Amino acid sequence: MTKFMWKFAPIAALCIATAQALPAPAANGLRLYREHCMACHRADGRGGMHFGRVVSADLRAPGLERTYRHDDALIERAILHGRDEDGEPLDAPMPHWAGRLDVRQVRDIVAYLHTLRAGRR
Ligand code: HEC
Repeated sequence: MTKFMWKFAPIAALCIATAQALPAPAANGLRLYREHCMACHRADGRGGMHFGRVVSADLRAPGLERTYRHDDALIERAILHGRDEDGEPLDAPMPHWAGRLDVRQVRDIVAYLHTLRAGRR
């Protein structure tokens, strides 16, 4: 048993280090993401869940950054007001978060989204 635990100690240490490595805004964003977004966009942000004919978006970089032209203000607008990169309405059931999350919280979530990378795992 003790041998077994020692074998995994470095992995546990690495996990703790990774969580601590997130800067404060992204760490707060992770907490908010888990609470409000994960159910539809999955824990790793890859989305792909079907709601009728609508599919939840992949929120990982670099796809999301490319779609929104590396403009965080556009990503914030998508989250707060449900508008895509061209200002067109996003499809339901993507909620509009204005009134439920403030701009600062949304910025923290965006900071967290930038830590999610497609193809990492
Ligand atoms: C009830 C399910 C649901 C929840 C909860 C949800 N989303 Fe979505 N989201 C969607 C769907 C479905 C789409 C795709 C809409 C479309 O294609 O027009 C989407 C689209 C998006 C987009 C646009 C991506 C793109 O490529 O244009 C962003 C950004 C986004 N969601 C972020 C979030 C964030 C951040 C949260 C949490 C605060 C959240 N979503 C919570 C379902 C959800």
